[in-house]
Amino acid sequence: MHTNFIGGQNMSVTKVLGTLLTSSILVAAAGVAFDAEATPATVPAAAAARPWMNASLSPDVRADLVIKQLTLAEKVQLVHGTGWATLIPGNPIPKGWNYGAGYVPGIERLGIPGIHMDDSAVGVRGAANMSRYATLLPSTVGAAASWNPKAAFLYGAVIGRELRDQGFNMSIGGGVDLAREPRDGRTFEYAGEDPLLAGTMTGNLIKGVQSQHVMGDIKHYAFNDQETGRSYFNAVIGDRAAQESDLLAFRIGIDIGHPAGVMCAYNRVNGIYACENPWLLTQVLRKDIGFKGFVVSDWGGTHSTVASALAGLDMEMPGSLDGKSHFGAALEQAVQSGKVPMATLDEMDHRILRSMFMAGVVEHPVTPRRVVNPFEGRDDAEHIAEESIVLLRNKHHLLPLDAESVHSIAIIGAHADVGVLSGGGSAQVDAPGGNVIDPHAGGAKWGETVYFPSSPLKYIRQHAPHATVAFNSGADIAAAVALARSSQVAVVFAQQHMLEGMDRPTLALPDNQDALIEAVAAANPRTVVVLETGGPVTMPWVDRVQAVVEAWYPGIGGAQALANLLFGNVNFSAKLPVTFPRGEGQLPHPVVTGLTADVFHTELTDAQAKVEPFDVDYNKAGAAVGYKWFERQHLSPLFPFGFGLSYTTYAYSNLKVDADGKTATLTVTNTGRRAGTEIAEAYALLPKASGETYKRLVGFKRVSLAPGEAQTVAIPLNELCESIYGTQKHAFVRLPGTYTILAGPSSANTLLKVTFSVR
Ligand code: BGC
Repeated sequence: MHTNFIGGQNMSVTKVLGTLLTSSILVAAAGVAFDAEATPATVPAAAAARPWMNASLSPDVRADLVIKQLTLAEKVQLVHGTGWATLIPGNPIPKGWNYGAGYVPGIERLGIPGIHMDDSAVGVRGAANMSRYATLLPSTVGAAASWNPKAAFLYGAVIGRELRDQGFNMSIGGGVDLAREPRDGRTFEYAGEDPLLAGTMTGNLIKGVQSQHVMGDIKHYAFNDQETGRSYFNAVIGDRAAQESDLLAFRIGIDIGHPAGVMCAYNRVNGIYACENPWLLTQVLRKDIGFKGFVVSDWGGTHSTVASALAGLDMEMPGSLDGKSHFGAALEQAVQSGKVPMATLDEMDHRILRSMFMAGVVEHPVTPRRVVNPFEGRDDAEHIAEESIVLLRNKHHLLPLDAESVHSIAIIGAHADVGVLSGGGSAQVDAPGGNVIDPHAGGAKWGETVYFPSSPLKYIRQHAPHATVAFNSGADIAAAVALARSSQVAVVFAQQHMLEGMDRPTLALPDNQDALIEAVAAANPRTVVVLETGGPVTMPWVDRVQAVVEAWYPGIGGAQALANLLFGNVNFSAKLPVTFPRGEGQLPHPVVTGLTADVFHTELTDAQAKVEPFDVDYNKAGAAVGYKWFERQHLSPLFPFGFGLSYTTYAYSNLKVDADGKTATLTVTNTGRRAGTEIAEAYALLPKASGETYKRLVGFKRVSLAPGEAQTVAIPLNELCESIYGTQKHAFVRLPGTYTILAGPSSANTLLKVTFSVR
């Protein structure tokens, strides 16, 4: 456990940072932040004298040309940096730092810019302290609910654009760890439980980031699927199960997005820390997957010098510029003494430099102090939210609300009068104007529950001009009930705050909200529940409310998106990227492994951090994560993976698959009276020799249909998802035998069936 960095979750440092971050000294210092950067005008002039500036050469050739010029000290300089450590009183603030989560100084004399990294899982982090603005997008788990690669690309493009506007050239977002543990405090910043969906969405998000000439990242590699004990737990998993689950999500994400960086995780995998794990970093990542970028450690996740460098770690972050880090003076000595070959250090530098050339961060230096366009960001966020919010229940067609005829609406709970909830930790974005429920100077404090100024009450009022729309906080259940009883419709907003460093102990909504919903529903059967949660929650009241909407953390355009959906100006199209269980008893681990009072989260003192590492048994579910586990165990969930309703209905027919199982075609018909977009899902049951008794998602496609319209849809089937990982050959293979392709609107409704054979 690292004590110096927020990455190590040391509370006292966090508090120091909280105080420091509010200081205007930082803002003043920002004025000198960029004098080390090249400007676009200098690049062509330098190109003649600097052959690596010739953009027609390949990134690999250019990287090698630079490496030939580097001294040993410069080679070491590129493989570690600084970050939060600089905010500790007394630590030097390096020239050129842009106040992000990490900074690696460049090689000024050769025209190689520094790497300015910032957290940006759901928007750029830490903007307020620098008097900057950043767009809060819907949670990535929500964006995954769109099943729309174009929405994911847009998501990444917003992040890339705003990073660049704020002077950063690398994103350290891109979370793709599978939701094996839905109580994981970071579920909201990942992309659900299925490797194909999560990998596809995250890969396209990274493409979007890199389209802005900003380096992208995918994280936390690997099996960082819970926060409890995250710095020391040991994920235990067999080779095949690993390759067909979380590692497959990374593989698909990397194949699509070609990220510059992979961030290795805090935890151990099969006994070895992820950031010094040769199997993960070299065998799987480089040899199997073919990743060509660089591996950067999670903040404080480097534990050694020689073992890490030899295993395949390329960059220690945040490191420290005083040379005391594992990849500082210690690495220089290890190279001088031959413990780490010079060729290994060259390879580390090569991967970093080629990624910089590849992403275009050298040709397109960041432009400091450009103002982020908040309107463009808000519109994009609203659009993504409209595709992210899932309609889970709609009895008696309570929704959409009729703007003309509705005369009274009770809005209850979750500060819906003023804002929408956001997730915490390093995925926290600062709310413009501050946290609406607790305004204070500076950015969000670590662990703070932050609401953004996007008021559901305001936009619901705008949509219902003839209605009395009143708010009750829900704190006093009797008062909420009285309002609900006197209103035509009650909309209860319920929240579950999630944040890095801490898992939810249960799937239940906190703060007595289940009782509030029960009471409101008893008083008014026309009750809608809108959930602002980071992931699945239980709903003991589900049969007694007429409508349920999962809004996740919907972002800065969330309230407008919600109002548009509730009143039917926009139709619902999203579907769940995670299974909603009926209770913890249905999960592979009914209690989060290691969750006891003293290791509840990782905000530990040094003494507590010496807790014995414990195993998390991922072999129990193996590759059967989420819906696969439910099917294997014959469990019926509350809401299945891939499920979501809309204001119209669809019929599926005419499923066919080509002889080699590469494409399925089927007809989707809009059988209702509203236009809509349906997500058609294709699953496969593998031949018996696979040993599997459950289906896997192998393809999906969104299709927009006018009322009555029918379309034949071609769904590309992912061959890796039709394969098993052969541990002898270290490769994915399709087994000979009969494959059944199933298609339909959700994992629990796949009535169409066809087969193909592999010989
Ligand atoms: C988190 C990373 C994050 C880093 C830098 C760590 O605590 O696990 O996801 O990128 O801090 O803020």
